[in-house]
Amino acid sequence: MSDAVLSQFTQQVEEEKKDSGRKLKVGIIGTGWIAESHIESYLEMDDVEIVAMADLIPGKAEKFAARYGVEGVHFYPSHKELIDNEQLDAVSVCTYNMTHAECTIYALEHGVNVLLEKPMCVTTEEAVEIMRAEKKSGKILSIGFQPRLDENMKMVKKIVQSGVLGDIYYIQTGGGRRRGIPNSTFIEQKTAGIGAMGDIGCYSLDMVLNAIGYPKPLTVTGYTSGFFGANPKYNNPADAARFDVEDFAAAFVRLEGGIILDFRIAWAMHIDSPGDTVILGTEGALRIPATECWNGSIGGPMTIYSDMAGNQVETTIPVCENRGKGLFYKKVRSFLDAILEGGEAPVPTSQILYNQAIIDHIVKSAKLGKEIEVVIPEI
Ligand SMILES: NC(=O)c1ccc[n+]([C@@H]2O[C@H](COP(=O)([O-])OP(=O)(O)OC[C@H]3O[C@@H](n4cnc5c(N)ncnc54)[C@H](O)[C@@H]3O)[C@@H](O)[C@H]2O)c1
Repeated sequence: MSDAVLSQFTQQVEEEKKDSGRKLKVGIIGTGWIAESHIESYLEMDDVEIVAMADLIPGKAEKFAARYGVEGVHFYPSHKELIDNEQLDAVSVCTYNMTHAECTIYALEHGVNVLLEKPMCVTTEEAVEIMRAEKKSGKILSIGFQPRLDENMKMVKKIVQSGVLGDIYYIQTGGGRRRGIPNSTFIEQKTAGIGAMGDIGCYSLDMVLNAIGYPKPLTVTGYTSGFFGANPKYNNPADAARFDVEDFAAAFVRLEGGIILDFRIAWAMHIDSPGDTVILGTEGALRIPATECWNGSIGGPMTIYSDMAGNQVETTIPVCENRGKGLFYKKVRSFLDAILEGGEAPVPTSQILYNQAIIDHIVKSAKLGKEIEVVIPEI
């Protein structure tokens, strides 16, 4: 079979962006690893002028700018001085998770549009404070989930939304690595706040929740552990000594609409993968092969399982090719286009709030050792 089913999901080629004639003044807050993909994208754009950079580590922003041959930039010791002293259209917040909220809120309060790296922040309360500042400012705030721009991720959403699976009632998602614990600022509460969930878990949550329209999470039974990261047998001793976030998390989440979300994520474990993503519906099911976790795409062709003319059939959805610019460029470009065109944020906080709330309630439920209701204050 398959041609008929397959043709419903024909790949669409992304339209590349046009020249607006206006130069946007941009600042970069936090000049570590992920800031590289932001500056590389901005430098490719004729309508962007990078005017300022900030980092808490003295000299780091200067070295970063020099590495990219960017001249005439003003440097600041933190987000505050940068925002206070510059007239900016936009900032990239590329800091570690624990300072996402303060940098973003400060920028919004000063009328600056924000492209905020994922995860949105650490707690539900911070997410709500960010959204209050966003609402008050009327500015664009987009969260940096570039895998959404991958054609295969778009295909997952198209398949679910086409109705071919019927009503969705159960989703298994997540993933992980046998060994793949990061280091630097990712492994301490004081900088990262959360571990594997903030690094890679938020992506798999976004893949499936975006596909089903981001229903509200209602209850969470969460579990977290750190058996590998803190053990010098599996992590280098200096990193093991300071490791205090989770390297594994699992949860059973009830979503509005009677959908069950079964989630697990690992930076390290004694198996190569905890399994594929599986979406079960009343008319069909979808299998999304696990990746090396997480490279922004899927691990191979997807399969739709359904019944046709009384037979059980399987339809293979080939891996889609991504054309044109890379995902990081498209992420930055879609944010700037929303500013220029007065559109919606490409990855809106109204959705990512639920992603953050699930992660935060996994942490809270794990501490309490029982199922908890998801509580989200009014925005
Ligand atoms: N989208 C992606 O694919 C992707 C990939 C990697 C990391 N990330 C995210 O990007 C964020 C940063 O990760 P990283 O690997 O670049 O971390 P990093 O530690 O290399 O860089 C963060 C930098 O921010 C600076 N900083 C922190 N607070 C600041 C403040 N208030 N003002 C100015 N500078 C400040 C730190 O000094 C540090 O240099 C994390 O939240 C991470 O989850 C996203």
